[in-house]
Amino acid sequence: MRYLTAGESHGPALTVILEGCPAGLPISPDDVNLQLARRQKGFGRGARQRIERDQVEILSGVRRGETLGGPITLLIRNRDHQAWSETMGVESREGGPDRAITFPRPGHADLPGALKYARRDARDILERASARETAARVAAGAVARKLLEAAGIRLASCVLAIGPVKVERKATWEDCQGLDGDMPIPDEEARERAMMAIQGARDAGDTLGGVILVIASGIPPGLGSHVQWDRRLDARLAAQFMSIPSAKAVEIGDGVAVSAGSGSAAHDAILHTPGRGFHHPTNRAGGIEGGMTNGEEVRVSTYLKPISTLMRPLQSADLLTKASGKAQIERSDVCAVPAAAVIGEAVMALCLADAFQEKFGGDSLRELLRNAEAYRQQVMEY
Ligand SMILES: Cc1cc2nc3c(=O)[nH]c(=O)nc-3n(C[C@H](O)[C@H](O)[C@H](O)COP(=O)(O)O)c2cc1C
Repeated sequence: MRYLTAGESHGPALTVILEGCPAGLPISPDDVNLQLARRQKGFGRGARQRIERDQVEILSGVRRGETLGGPITLLIRNRDHQAWSETMGVESREGGPDRAITFPRPGHADLPGALKYARRDARDILERASARETAARVAAGAVARKLLEAAGIRLASCVLAIGPVKVERKATWEDCQGLDGDMPIPDEEARERAMMAIQGARDAGDTLGGVILVIASGIPPGLGSHVQWDRRLDARLAAQFMSIPSAKAVEIGDGVAVSAGSGSAAHDAILHTPGRGFHHPTNRAGGIEGGMTNGEEVRVSTYLKPISTLMRPLQSADLLTKASGKAQIERSDVCAVPAAAVIGEAVMALCLADAFQEKFGGDSLRELLRNAEAYRQQVMEY
């Protein structure tokens, strides 16, 4: 299963083509819109989220509520585009660029992108680098999620930290259920403090980052492989999560904590119980050993840097005159960590659906599920 997104932040629309989804998967625009609406929530988001009410249009690959097996094209219009149609128009026209960004913003793609692509206006870069692109990934992820759900695999997420405010215990699957989408922290006191921290950052013209956790449950052992570096599922997940804008570190299971301790406290013992098969009493590995799922929950935490656009901007230098000055300000979020948790679920879904398809194949959902069921049986009877 592979996907490719296209579109600029203030262009007419975002699109994504998802290929490799088997035929016969029930899917509706509502399934996708549900996830798009979740992405737009979050305490700390900016004015853009009040303008956009993302709605998907399914342009190909689905007929009468079921996938056909061909490429699925999803389109999300940028309602904001109306106000930007001249700035973002494709026709060549007289005069210099408007709404130009010539003082690149530190922490953004502005400067390296302008240098790399030889653009005099960093808007040519930021329009594509913007996290608006993740709406397309969330849409594709909603389809992948439906596929996983058909196979009994569920996804959930939560926020573990906002700036210095942290959840001090290990969050469980149950902790991730029924959380408030605006601030999905599984600890009432930390939740209050996180919202105060965001308000404080907003008042100070500053921004905050944080940590998200995404969990997948119901995963059979053996997705991914140890035999080649690029088939290792932990590596593939890390790439997916790292590609979320502002992600700066990815942790599988308790990877960071165990690196500071001894081996006896780092690994998970192996048990066998009739009727349940092999399992582990703990899950420090985050459900992956040797690049393969081991049958436990897959747990991925992602560390996000604070938003780069500051209302009290850092120093920058003009791309045209080279004069020093303050970085330019674009309308911006103060904290996007809750939204990143939803994006995290989407990329986890895309990665696991890909690995699931790879292992069990099948051109129809029926064939895929039959193959998966036979394998689960084989593992139980091992
Ligand atoms: C959901 C989401 C929303 C974001 N919104 C903003 C924003 O409003 N302003 C901003 O400066 N950065 C925002 N970012 C982060 C930037 O997109 C990101 O820092 C930038 O593209 C540079 O990429 P890098 O941080 O991965 O190096 C957001 C990130 C996410 C995940």
